[in-house]
Formats: sequence, structure tokens, C-alpha cells
Amino acid sequence: MDVTLNVRRFDPESESPESRFQEYNLEVEDYFTVLDALIKVREEVDGSLALRCSCRASICGSCSMRVNGHAKLVCKTKVRDVANAQNQVTVEPMGNLPVVKDLVSDMKPFWDRVRAVKPYLQPEGEEPEAEYLAPNETMLHLAGVMSCIMCGACVSDCTAIEVDQRFLGPAALAKAYRFVGDPRDDADRSRLQMYSQPGGIWDCTRCMECVQVCPKGVAPMDRIMGLRDMAIEAGFSNNNGARHTEAFTDSIKHSGRLDELKLPLRTFGVFNVQAMMGLSLVGLRAFLRGKTPPIIHKAIPGKDKVRRLFDKVEGKR
Ligand code: FES
Repeated sequence: MDVTLNVRRFDPESESPESRFQEYNLEVEDYFTVLDALIKVREEVDGSLALRCSCRASICGSCSMRVNGHAKLVCKTKVRDVANAQNQVTVEPMGNLPVVKDLVSDMKPFWDRVRAVKPYLQPEGEEPEAEYLAPNETMLHLAGVMSCIMCGACVSDCTAIEVDQRFLGPAALAKAYRFVGDPRDDADRSRLQMYSQPGGIWDCTRCMECVQVCPKGVAPMDRIMGLRDMAIEAGFSNNNGARHTEAFTDSIKHSGRLDELKLPLRTFGVFNVQAMMGLSLVGLRAFLRGKTPPIIHKAIPGKDKVRRLFDKVEGKR
């Protein structure tokens, strides 16, 4: 099959170091992965193309790039599966990370985030005399999250990091979940307190991008939601994120619909002057566009059915 690779090139040492797209036309076999095609370009067409890979078997996590706008392991992605009707494939370096050259990303910000969650066991008390073997059943729920190969695909496509680089991000928080869930770790409370700070678990916007692009089914967003539940259960609920969640749930539980007037008041607190001033402006804009929520909040017909659903989920029925 003849294919055109549109590759984003960037050379910081060139005289005009802006990134640009370069087209490569080549013939590929039906079984070729995008990585095979890129290597063919580098070996036969343009030796200056920089890319990173190692295992070529979706194990090492080093070949993450954006293919047609979404992060993928290119050693796992067949050209024929991603080529458009004109047999074109667009390849770019990962998002949310600085580019070293062409398709090679600088992973330092990624590893800084992972280090920040203290990705190691913190046991308390006397050192055990023998190896602490965790019972199998206590570790099974961590099998999925331990499949993470640290490829960075989730960070690349994280829409929260895109607007706020302080967010710990999906890979680091999935790693955090792995240690909070480990029975050999005794630092759950200090971990959950730290992850509840700004830049932590409450900054995820639940866009699902990380779940979609993770090549190993780690589902980082689900782990972040798990950490949120654990943090609230542990009493770390004095923050905007936890208050928002509780206000949202209470509203649906009691009336079957969201009370949009009360939600921000409970989230930020009525005595938070700065937040209230910001909300007044939002309220004014909503009023001018005729989108003000009703002053008197009404329940939906059949709200009891909604309440019964909550009771069922909460194990009261
Ligand atoms: Fe190792 Fe792709 S080269 S995961």
C-alpha cells in the first residue's frame, strides 16, 4: 500500500526552529505499524528524522506519539487502521510535554509528576523480620493499574494539564491509587490529604481522554474517581471539589434535578467574597442571555424513584 506520512518536524538547532509538517510518501506492507513506517523513512528516506522506540512490542512505553491527533503507541498501531481515505497518516510528538526534536518528547515533566505522589511503599512500625507477602485477594484490584507502562499517552491528551500544568495528571494519580490501595503501605491519610490539594484529584475534568488513549486499559480517570471517594471517606472534604460533589449528589437525591443556584454557593461557600464576586459576573451574563436558573427549585415528578436508586447504590435497600 502507498501511504503519505505527514510528520511534524522540529529541530531546536536549526536556523528557523519553528515546527512544520513534512510529507513522506512510501510503500508499506499490510502488516506495517506506524513505527515500522517511521523507521523505514529514517532508514531509507531521511536519516535526520528523530524518534524514540525500544521494544517494538508495546512493553517499554517509549514510542508514544500523536497519530491523527490522539496519543498512541506507534509500535501497536497498524498503518492500515489509521490511514484516511487518501492513505494519509499524521504523526506528531506527544502533547503537554516539551519536544526535544521531531517526535521525541522530553519526559522530565512526566517523571516529576510521578515522583511528586511518592511512588513507593511507606510502611510504619518495626521492620518486618521476613518479607511482607500481601494476600492475593488484597492485591487483585490493583492488577489493572499495575499494567501501566508509563508511556505518557494519558498525559499527552489530558485536557486538564493542557490548561494547568500544575495538575498531577492521570499517570501520576493512577500510580498514587496503586499505593493507597496497597495493604503494605501505611501512609494512606497523608497521601489522600496531599492528593486533595489544588493540582490533585479534584482538578480532573472527567473528559475521559486518558481512558480512551491508555494502551493498557489502566483507565486512570476511574482511579482518580476512586481516590476522590477514599479522600471523602477519610474526611478530606473541606475543599471545593469535595463540596461540589456532595452538593451535586444531595441535589439530585432530594429533587431529582440539579439546583444550579445552590450548587456554586455550597461549592465555594457564601462567605468566599472573591468567589462570590466572580459568580455574580457569571450570574449577570446568564441573566442577560436569559439563562438564569429558576429561583425556586422544583423537584421532578417521580423524584422518589431517583431516591430509591440512590438507596440501592448506597446499599440501603
Ligand atoms: Fe516499546 Fe512501543 S517501542 S512500547
